[in-house]
Amino acid sequence: MLLQSAIVALGGATLAAAVTPLEVQGQQFVNTKSGNAFQIVGMAYQIGGSAGYDPKHGKDPLSNGDICKRDAALMQSLGVNTIRVYNLDPNLNHDECASVFNAAGMYMIIDVNSPLAGESLNSGAPWESYYAAYLNRTFAIVEAFKSYPNTLGFFSGNEVIDNVKTGATVPPYVRAVTRDLKNYIKNHADRKIPVGYSAADVRDVLEDTWNYFQCAIDGDEDDMSRADMFALNSYSWCGESSFQKSGYDTLVALFKDSSVPVFYSEFGCNTPSPRVFTEIGTIYGSEMTGTFAGGVVYEWAQEDNNYGLAECNDDGTVTLLADYHTLHDQYSKVDFKKVQSVKASGKKVSPPECKASLIKEKGFNNNFTIPAPPPGAQKIIDNGVSPKPSGKLVDISDYSVKHKVTDVDGKSLSNLAVKPLSGDEINTPSGGSGSSTSGSSDETGNAAPTLAPQGSLSAATIVIPAMIALSFTAGFTLF
Ligand SMILES: *[C@@H]1O[C@H](CO)[C@@H](O)[C@H](O)[C@H]1NC(C)=O
Ligand SMILES: *[C@@H]1O[C@H](CO)[C@@H](O)[C@H](O)[C@H]1NC(C)=O
Repeated sequence: MLLQSAIVALGGATLAAAVTPLEVQGQQFVNTKSGNAFQIVGMAYQIGGSAGYDPKHGKDPLSNGDICKRDAALMQSLGVNTIRVYNLDPNLNHDECASVFNAAGMYMIIDVNSPLAGESLNSGAPWESYYAAYLNRTFAIVEAFKSYPNTLGFFSGNEVIDNVKTGATVPPYVRAVTRDLKNYIKNHADRKIPVGYSAADVRDVLEDTWNYFQCAIDGDEDDMSRADMFALNSYSWCGESSFQKSGYDTLVALFKDSSVPVFYSEFGCNTPSPRVFTEIGTIYGSEMTGTFAGGVVYEWAQEDNNYGLAECNDDGTVTLLADYHTLHDQYSKVDFKKVQSVKASGKKVSPPECKASLIKEKGFNNNFTIPAPPPGAQKIIDNGVSPKPSGKLVDISDYSVKHKVTDVDGKSLSNLAVKPLSGDEINTPSGGSGSSTSGSSDETGNAAPTLAPQGSLSAATIVIPAMIALSFTAGFTLF
């Protein structure tokens, strides 16, 4: 209650309601208002790929409000509740985009790094790239995003460790960056925003990477260099696979007793193509939700690597691809009302103690002496970034989509708009919520329908009351 009134007081009456900030409790992300554990229904969002991050021209994926409205409207009807954004410029204004995604009931997971020189750790020689100006950049990202209630967490690194060689040198530096970010947040943010790592799913080093980041140095669970969450980019479920065939079962066995939340920071193998997305039923089914906190589909905008759900053109027009509809259909089979209303378990798992024997792979770093902050960094951690970027929710007067959006069958979609949700509401896929048959979500993974060929997945062929309601309130019909 306190938080809610604080937000209202801050923004005045016209501000759209805000999503409730999430908190890490044991292995789960918890909505403190509802007391429910949260499952990420996520989307990787990087319009234009890494070229979409162009600080020289004042451009990053969350700097154009109209583009965000367009994509938020389309992702809202898909059922997305979280976006992951990779490359951001802390000095651009993200207020409109953050406010649009907040109103649409979506959280944001933010990577603090970028591929530009000096803006991430160099995995070949991490000691050379760990310096104050680099850290200052990551802290500036925290400043830019810390005040949005829908900021779910920060990634201190993405796939910096991808084999035993990088596993030999990089881990202490990622823990150092994690520590510095957590200290920065502790000193300068109003709430404890989680910081974690997004790992490559390379089985030689995955377990060691997770253990290196979750373990307690000298048994101290509150050690600031310990990750608050752990995620992995996994592409092992391809086509009509299964819990066992994809190896998801071994991941569940591995992470079952994780001391921190675990989720897929990317998934969505694209061979065969178009995709069938049969993993959705399993990711949100009973075999996984006790261990994984959902996942992030890779990715929203089509690029050369062919993972996109939507062709996003330079002129702002969009053409939806068949995969968009397939994913929607798979989400529709899951009873998300049930999935998202599981009470937080309150279960706390103690992390293992950091010791050399915790590390299995020969050559992977097993030294838990974490480098001290580089010269000049502690002063920034103490006093804050200067000058300081800032972000705040703003009032959005018009939620309508300005750009032309065409469906996969060539029909243009009219009256598209983001539908601002009421207080505390989180966006959710529309299907399945009417049915409460227990266990229905488990079957979808194995009993996937034969996919209709591209083009025949046309609008309005499925009539479910909840969907009709959605299309009325949102002012358009997509399905
Ligand atoms: C720290 O970041 C801010 C915001 O980007 C920037 O203006 C400032 O010059 C940076 N300071 C250092 C020491 O790199
Ligand atoms: C662990 O790393 C620290 C810092 O690099 C170093 O001083 C120490 O000698 C290392 N310990 C072992 C056992 O290699």
